Amino acid sequence: MEILRVEHLSKIYGKGETEVRALDDVSFTMEKGELAAVVGKSGSGKSTLMHLLGGVDRPTGGKVLVEGQEVYGRTPEEMAIFRRRKVGLVYQFYNLIPVLNVVENITLPLRLDGQRINKEHLDELLELLDLSDRKKHLPKQLSGGQQQRVSIGRALIHAPALLLADEPTGNLDEKNSQEIMELIKYSNRRYKQTTLIVTHDESIALQTGRIIRMEDGRIVSDEKI
Ligand SMILES: Nc1ncnc2c1ncn2[C@@H]1O[C@H](COP(=O)(O)OP(=O)(O)O)[C@@H](O)[C@H]1O
Ligand SMILES: [Mg+2]
Repeated sequence: MEILRVEHLSKIYGKGETEVRALDDVSFTMEKGELAAVVGKSGSGKSTLMHLLGGVDRPTGGKVLVEGQEVYGRTPEEMAIFRRRKVGLVYQFYNLIPVLNVVENITLPLRLDGQRINKEHLDELLELLDLSDRKKHLPKQLSGGQQQRVSIGRALIHAPALLLADEPTGNLDEKNSQEIMELIKYSNRRYKQTTLIVTHDESIALQTGRIIRMEDGRIVSDEKI
C-alpha cells in the first residue's frame, strides 16, 4: 500500500539574484512499512524536502500525497490537523517544551487534538522508549539521548502514517545514535511505521532498506539495499 507519493516537487527560495532552487523536480513514492534514508551534502535540499513532506512549508511546484490525500490545497486548519495526525516529525535538536515533563511532552499532540490519552498505549510507548522511570522529568533533567527519545515518543503517539526524522542522531554520540536507530528500526517493524530519515552518516543510512541520494535539490540515486 502506497503511503507517500511525491510528484515533481520543487521549492525556490527568494527571488532574482538571491534565488535558490532548493528542490528541483523531485519524485518518489514510499510503501507502507518502508524504512528509507535521505543522504546528501549540506545544502542539497534534504531539510527542505522534509519540511514539504511534513506540511510545514509550501512547495513552489508539484504535489505531495499522504495516504492518497493531497497535503497542499487545504485550509490552514486542515493543514494543522494533517500535521498533527498524519506525520510525526523528529529534528536534530529535539524541540521539546521546556516547562512540560516527559509524559506531557509526549502527549501534547493528543491534547492539542482534544483526544483522550490511552494509558495502555502510553505505557507501552514509555516502555519502548525506556522512559518509564522518567515520566515526571523535565527536558533539562534528561540526557540528549533521552530527550531525543521523548521527541520520538511525541512523533509516534498518534501512530502517524509517516515518521520524518531530520538528522535525528546529528547531535548525539555513537552509543546514543545507535540507540535511537534501534528505536526507529523497532517502531518500523513493530508498527509497520513508514519512516524517512535524513542523515549524513553512511552507517546509519546502511541500516535502512533504501538510500535516496540528493545533490543540488535533485535525487541522483534511489537504491534498495
Ligand atoms: N528559508 C530559506 N531561505 C532561503 N534559502 C534557504 C532556506 N532554507 C534553505 N535554503 C537554501 O536551500 C538549499 C537547501 O537547504 P536545506 O534543505 O536546508 O539543505 P540540507 O538540509 O540538505 O542541508 C540551501 O542552499 C539553503 O541555503
Ligand atoms: Mg538539513
